[in-house]
Amino acid sequence: MKIIGISSSPRGKNSSTLKLLDAALAGAAEAGADVEEIDVAKLKIKYCNACNSCHEKGVCAIKDDYQALLEKLLAADGIILSSPNYITNVTAQLKTLFDRSPLVIHEQLFEGKYGFSLTTAGSGEIDFVLDIMNNYMAHCGGKFTGGVGCSMAEGPSAMEAAIDKSHEMGKDLVGAIKEKRPYPEQEAAHEAWRGRFKYVILANKEQWTHNCDYWTEKGWI
Ligand SMILES: Cc1cc2nc3c(=O)[nH]c(=O)nc-3n(C[C@H](O)[C@H](O)[C@H](O)COP(=O)(O)O)c2cc1C
Repeated sequence: MKIIGISSSPRGKNSSTLKLLDAALAGAAEAGADVEEIDVAKLKIKYCNACNSCHEKGVCAIKDDYQALLEKLLAADGIILSSPNYITNVTAQLKTLFDRSPLVIHEQLFEGKYGFSLTTAGSGEIDFVLDIMNNYMAHCGGKFTGGVGCSMAEGPSAMEAAIDKSHEMGKDLVGAIKEKRPYPEQEAAHEAWRGRFKYVILANKEQWTHNCDYWTEKGWI
């Protein structure tokens, strides 16, 4: 079982959010997973230019580090997303990865994968930022098991507690993957999304040929 942890703070080794990710991956490794940490702040990932060719050809037209990262994410069973709170949002580095994901979303390529999210903040809005990352996972067809965050304003003991919780969440993610844990509400949301989005696919079937073939193969249209 492979679990990838995405780090996205520009502070590298000094990142507080990375401490939570390290703990989560250590927990997952203790539970038997093969883990890998990838720092998107160190990769060269350009902005999506909305050319839509991924929907036609099944591959992004931009040549940079995104393609190799995507291949790793697609091969993983679990994905842990992490970002510090930057203006009540994720960092631009992580958002750039999200924006390069229209193919992943249109074809629900994280279907069957599980993940969770981690954040730290100077003051707060923890849940808001965790929701952004978990919503991305859900939007890509995956399921999320929860999230852990810490406000640095609450001091070192809060961080210690968040590190411990991240460690437990990492272990638990391995359990969720092994048992194919059901999340009926998230599964219903996926089904509802496919019910709506099929009209978008059908409306664009002449241009989005890769999407259309994929949906036909899956029996979604
Ligand atoms: C550009 C920038 C924007 C930030 N915006 C917020 C914010 O909106 N709310 C907040 O509580 N903290 C904010 N912070 C503080 C960081 O979230 C906080 O220091 C976090 O722990 C940094 O994590 P890191 O060490 O992993 O980079 C911001 C920091 C920076 C550099």
